[in-house]
Amino acid sequence: MSQHLWSGRFDDAPDPAAFDFGVSFPFDRRLFEDDVAGSLAWAEALAAAGILDAADAAAIRQGLTAILDAGRHNPAWVSGDDEDVHSFVERELVARVGDAGRRLHTGRSRNEQVSLDLRLYLRRRIPLLQQQIERLVATLADQAERAEVAVMPAYTHMRRAMPVTIAHYLLSHVAALRRDHTRFAVAREEANALPLGSGAVAGTNYAVDTGQLAARLGFTRVVANSIDASSDRDFCVTFLHAVALTMVHLSRLAEDFILLTSDEFGFFELADQSATGSSMMPQKKNPDPLELVRGKAGRAIGALTGLLVTIKGLPTGYNKDLQEDKEPVFDAEDTITVSLGAATAVVARLTLRPERARLAASGLLLATDVADYLVARGLPFRQAHEVVGGMVRHLVSEGRSFVDLSLAEWQQWDPSFGADVTAAISAESSVRARRTPQSTHPEAVSAALAETRAWLSACSQ
Ligand code: ARG
Repeated sequence: MSQHLWSGRFDDAPDPAAFDFGVSFPFDRRLFEDDVAGSLAWAEALAAAGILDAADAAAIRQGLTAILDAGRHNPAWVSGDDEDVHSFVERELVARVGDAGRRLHTGRSRNEQVSLDLRLYLRRRIPLLQQQIERLVATLADQAERAEVAVMPAYTHMRRAMPVTIAHYLLSHVAALRRDHTRFAVAREEANALPLGSGAVAGTNYAVDTGQLAARLGFTRVVANSIDASSDRDFCVTFLHAVALTMVHLSRLAEDFILLTSDEFGFFELADQSATGSSMMPQKKNPDPLELVRGKAGRAIGALTGLLVTIKGLPTGYNKDLQEDKEPVFDAEDTITVSLGAATAVVARLTLRPERARLAASGLLLATDVADYLVARGLPFRQAHEVVGGMVRHLVSEGRSFVDLSLAEWQQWDPSFGADVTAAISAESSVRARRTPQSTHPEAVSAALAETRAWLSACSQ
């Protein structure tokens, strides 16, 4: 490279090693479309302000449109030894339209241009991630519907705690994913401000109508302060936080299904298509895709942490350190895209094993229901807890469970146990005893499922 956007200031060409170290084109080429879209709008704004004449504006428009077409038609063409995507587009434009192209950068800085491009990029890419979240939610909802009123134990401290319906459990992941969906909407809105007009740091000398320009590019507002705009990457951090937290949720979902499909739990069966074998142990059916989702969460958290560290000590105004914003953003986006795809594929193919799940939900974890039975017959809860605690201790020592007790045995523990106790103390009765809308009562779960479906159809409108 002999010629750069800034060569005029220098006697000597840059040292190749130093120049190569500073290039961002190999990765910011992803912003190609956004860079051209921003330049098209900037040229219009310059023309509207009387800074470009009609002929130059038309030449720039034609040149940029041809560049956009060429890049869309052949993405591999958007490459080479330019410093960054902005330099590439400008060089191509000048090659096509000469001096008119040299007028495009009037009143504009790459500092605001890179911010603009990233904002436009996130604005168009975030909805695709939200659609992927919706697909995973729909897949979990389908499984919840298939599970009907089948039961499984819910765990606290990784010990069997209380029976829940499997549908209720599946919808617990939906609840977290819906918060993620909202978080992405917030991240998108934060990015949705026009930085143009900020110049390099102090604003621009040309009377460009920034309100009009914002509207033309679909932004909801213009940034408040040009100095802040040149160094602000908060919108990238917010995006990376949304990615990292979604990945944390996917990682926990993955961990759950690694456990729940194991021989030890076996409430679900992993499809052959979702597993790999072992080169040595013929019996193995490994949940590799889920393990990779769990592993990749670390990478997404790293992207967030890395950018926070990059910006924490920066003096106000643009600094080249900010070029380090793009790779974590792109890598996080790629990571969450493949992870959502893999998680959705695995969940879609899970088979429920309701007998195994019910067995695990039918043991001593019904103890609270036994205590509640006594409370309903007038015993104070503390006393009921004491009685049932004694029963549990005894049953554990004998390797038995509540279902094994005869009525006479029940009544040895407390005379208020009646003949109805066998029917009352079951996983099915336990879930039916719940009263609140967020509970595992099958009717509450049906309502939650219907509400999820309504949300999904509202999303696709
Ligand atoms: N490649 C640069 C970046 O990603 C673009 C902005 C360059 N600005 C500058 N003053 N060198 O941040």
